[in-house]
Amino acid sequence: MNQEALEALLQDLSLEEKVYQLIQYQGANYSEDAVLTGLLDRNHITPRELGMAGSTLCIWGADKLRKIQDACMAVQPHHIPMLFMLDVIHGHRTVFPCPLGLGASFSPALVEQSAAVAARESAAEGVHVTFAPMADLVRDARWGRCMESTGEDACLNGQMAAAMVRGFQGDDLRSPEHIAACVKHFAGYGAPVAGKDYQNIELSEYTLREFYLPAYKAAIDAGAKMVMTGFHACNGIPCTGNTWLMQQVLRQEMGFDGVLISDYCAVNEMVTHGFCEDLAEAAGTAMDAGVDIDMEGRSYAAALMKLVQSGAVPVARLDEAVRRVLRLKNELGLFEDPYHGASEARAGEVVLRADHRALARKIVAESLVLLKNQDGLLPLRKGKIAFVGPCGEDADLRSAWSFSGDPADSVSVRQAAEELGWETRFAKGCTLLDNDTRHALGLFHTDAWKEENDTLLREAEEAAAWADTVVVCLGEHRLQTGEAASRVHLRLPEIQLELLRRVAAQNRNVVVLLFNGRPLVLDEVEQYAGAILECWLPGTEGGHGILDVLTGAVSPSGKIPMSFPYAEGQEPMSYDHFSSGRPAVPGTETYVCRYLDCPDEPRYPFGYGLSYTTFALTGAALSDREMYPGKTLTVTASLENTGRRAGSEVVQLYLRDVTGSRIRPVKSLKGFRKIFLQPGERRQVSFTITEEMLRFYTRRDRWESEPGRFRVYLGTDSRVEEYLEFTLLQN
Ligand code: BGC
Repeated sequence: MNQEALEALLQDLSLEEKVYQLIQYQGANYSEDAVLTGLLDRNHITPRELGMAGSTLCIWGADKLRKIQDACMAVQPHHIPMLFMLDVIHGHRTVFPCPLGLGASFSPALVEQSAAVAARESAAEGVHVTFAPMADLVRDARWGRCMESTGEDACLNGQMAAAMVRGFQGDDLRSPEHIAACVKHFAGYGAPVAGKDYQNIELSEYTLREFYLPAYKAAIDAGAKMVMTGFHACNGIPCTGNTWLMQQVLRQEMGFDGVLISDYCAVNEMVTHGFCEDLAEAAGTAMDAGVDIDMEGRSYAAALMKLVQSGAVPVARLDEAVRRVLRLKNELGLFEDPYHGASEARAGEVVLRADHRALARKIVAESLVLLKNQDGLLPLRKGKIAFVGPCGEDADLRSAWSFSGDPADSVSVRQAAEELGWETRFAKGCTLLDNDTRHALGLFHTDAWKEENDTLLREAEEAAAWADTVVVCLGEHRLQTGEAASRVHLRLPEIQLELLRRVAAQNRNVVVLLFNGRPLVLDEVEQYAGAILECWLPGTEGGHGILDVLTGAVSPSGKIPMSFPYAEGQEPMSYDHFSSGRPAVPGTETYVCRYLDCPDEPRYPFGYGLSYTTFALTGAALSDREMYPGKTLTVTASLENTGRRAGSEVVQLYLRDVTGSRIRPVKSLKGFRKIFLQPGERRQVSFTITEEMLRFYTRRDRWESEPGRFRVYLGTDSRVEEYLEFTLLQN
């Protein structure tokens, strides 16, 4: 439809039709043919209202969505197609590693491909929009949604979020291969006070702009069609009604002109926040802030029509919101093909296609982080290998946000190990969780738990005593990480630690595989394991990708995207903190910025990860010692694979602004490159340093650079100490 026709359609809509374009009901309300369901009864929504709504969420399935589309379009006086939205977060039916694992791959190119696969599969099953990427920066491992983020760094997150947007949306949104992306949760949702989900955030404008906003901006610059507001209040004002954030920062400064949707019921929740008196005020406040769609909440449905009739919400504002929704439908080609190419036949062809699985396997291997490898315990040598631990048998290696994936399609560590034909034994060892935790998560629990575990532990001990090497698979339950899954204890459950102790008493060669969606406190794991491989929540091809690395077919190359603490009390933490006036440098033990009872640094820092081979990064050089305004510099170095295996290393560029009108981070990542080298191979690596990279929110409240000295670090993790220096000259 051309722009004039779209505008004519908008002008022809009744007030009621317009308002309904901005209302989104939960997909569970729709049965196959959009007739009343039980839920609908309870929710007091009439079939007509369901049909009139502009969009829905959380359903998929080609036939089902085609029928719902037909039924809803029949109800609509202008037969406007509905938008189907879903959380396609890290894959659809082919599930990729959780976003924290994707971040660990340090490979935006692969992440883009994974998003393209997710788009192809979900589009074939009727989805038009995904609620991804989540570009929230995370620094507090207590927050369960770390799992959905790509990590603690603005540059890494920005590159990953942009890659996901490109992968989802492609060049042509009308294509049945692509869906629209929705960046979330604007803004700063990853910094809740005390790591508790949904809590407010307290961030200075400087901190917000320096660390939290850049990744959303990168996704918007990559063309993301939608943005979602956060549930939380930002410095006292709920995001969903935060005019400064949504109008000034998002619309004006970032230039975002797409659809802004609230998070689930976030409009209504402004009443619970104590920010609005009732749903009518909440609806008016959200409209005022620029929120176009009310997700599942009933505020727009309850009040928007009256607010427009009374003039409290101007017709022009209503039209603006509806125009954006219609424009997105048009960009997706829904007026010509309301199914966007979805059909059971197409889904049958693309879902879990062999190349999708192969990509997932590759990405799993690239996302694994080798944290420790004493005496070259890994890769495994052929011999008697025991796989023990609850995560090894489990094919459900997905996250809580991969509900469209089916565990039946997944490959467990056990399955992949059995395929090898090696001499292996398997023992579950213990249940993943103890009884009380299962109860707390609403999972099945049994009084027979203790005896069951005693038997499992004994079997694991026997397997460990038999083996040359024991691979112990431990981790979090998928419901322990994700939304509403904040925790203050970041250790593995006691029952799993007991298994580890008992196994270690039988066998000195212990390899631990970790399955988790957040950094954990690993003290006992460190104590007993000779090698530790961080596997995240790896998804459909988890077992294969892990075995590729365990056997040495692939060298591990993942890097830590979020610092692992020694103790929970260190949280929140990140490598790019500001310098205090009294940093704890060696030799200054008293009255310095440190803990008395815990190291100052993380156990595993950002950017860290081992390989089976070794690399030498040498000869770093800058093209000039001075940078003239408007010009760039180049920093180069040589990377050589000095070991005996092929492998990839991630070269990381960090900058430090030595003096600023506001104190600056001790180091900030500005670029990274993952490079694959054969043994003995050497390659020049170079990065361009631009004046844009030096900008920050200065004391003049402007995003600009300041002349002065800058340090340049090239390294293979964030601890790199050697640097070169240049001066940015005055304009
Ligand atoms: C989450 C969002 C998600 C939405 C729709 C909310 O609870 O915060 O991230 O996109 O639900 O499922």
